[in-house]
Order: sequence, then structure tokens, then C-alpha cells
Amino acid sequence: MKITYYGHSCFGIEIEGKNLLFDPFISGNPLVGDTVNIETIPCDFMLISHGHADHILDAEAIAKRTGCKVVCAWEISEWLKAKGVENTHPMNTGGSWDFEFGKVKCVVAQHSSGLPDGTYGGNPMGFVVMTEEGNFYFSGDTALTLDMQLIPMTCPPLSFAIFPIGSNFTMDYQDAVIAADFVQCEQVIGCHFDTFGFIKIDHEAAVKAFEDENKTLLLPEIGSIYDVS
Ligand code: NI
Ligand code: MN
Repeated sequence: MKITYYGHSCFGIEIEGKNLLFDPFISGNPLVGDTVNIETIPCDFMLISHGHADHILDAEAIAKRTGCKVVCAWEISEWLKAKGVENTHPMNTGGSWDFEFGKVKCVVAQHSSGLPDGTYGGNPMGFVVMTEEGNFYFSGDTALTLDMQLIPMTCPPLSFAIFPIGSNFTMDYQDAVIAADFVQCEQVIGCHFDTFGFIKIDHEAAVKAFEDENKTLLLPEIGSIYDVS
């Protein structure tokens, strides 16, 4: 699977010829600079985990430019529709849907989800994406939670998981090691680190924490493309 990192929690993942874009926050990311341009990012399906600005800031602009289908909580879907984003697919925790690229299951995230203007954003969610090319879990912002143990009970084996590791607003990398155990996945891609002062991490220590448990942690670089399977 071809994965492009756009910074913070924003990833582009190409599956079955479709471009998925997760949690678009680019134009407001102080680390992005000229490396990524929201005018050219490809997007057929946008998946939004929750309503915080550092996950949704560029959603309206990219959705209007591309006409992509936006997969998100019902409350976020209504909020986007009021802004003129018509092509949405509302979901909620526990639900699944078959899209052209594969199946998406919405799972629990232990977090909050107010929209930038104060509108209620519904439940924060993670996504398990199940495809012919492999399965993965994008947890969104979340604490470590026992609910993660339900994922291997209800979903096929994961190739990789994308976890926030910056602490302060989400789990830290130590908890992410345990989360990887809970979802029975050895390969983790870190996100939600270094963007702001609150979430700066020690890269070496984070990588070592995973190595010590015979797991791998990829700390992606903004604008870089990775082939993960
Ligand atoms: Ni958040
Ligand atoms: Mn966040």
C-alpha cells in the first residue's frame, strides 16, 4: 500500500486505485511549509476521525475541489453539508460500510470531538479499513483503551496500525506499544507528534520502546511516500 504522510495525523493511502485521505490538517501545520499543497493532493475518499481543527481544517477546501466522498460522524457530515459539501457518508461507532476500495468499520476512540465553531461533533472514531490489499487501523486521537482488544475479535488481521504517540492530547508512545499488543499488530506508524510544543517527542526513545517489544515504529517524514504491506 502506498502511504503519503502530509503531517500531523494526515495520511494519503492509495488502495485499489482509489486515494483515501485521512484527517486533513495541512495549511495550518507549522511544520509543512511548501512540501505539501492542498490544491494538488489527490482524494477520492476522505475519512475524518473527529471534529477538532487539527484533523478537519482543510476538509472543506479539499472536498469542494475534488468532489470526494467524505466519511465521518453524522454530526460532522451535517456540519459539512451546511458549508456546501454535499458528498458525505455519515457513520457512527460500531457501524461498517462497503466502499469501492473495501470495508470501513468505525471503532471507539477515547477522546472528544467538538467542531472548531463549537458545534457538537458526535463521537470521535477510529477506522478499521479492510481491503484486498491488506487491512489497517487508523485509531484517530485516542487514549489507550481496552476496547482496542475488540478489534482482533471482530476484524481480520492487521498489516499495520496508525497511532498518535505525542501524549498530552492522546496516548503516548509507551501506551501505543500496549495498543499494538491489544490489536495484535507488530507494525505501527506514528502520528500526532512534534507538530506543537505540547506533543514533541524523543524519536530515538520512541523507536526503542517498540523495538524492545519486537515491534516496529515508523516515524514518517512530511511529504514522504512509504510502501507498507
Ligand atoms: Ni483531537
Ligand atoms: Mn488532534
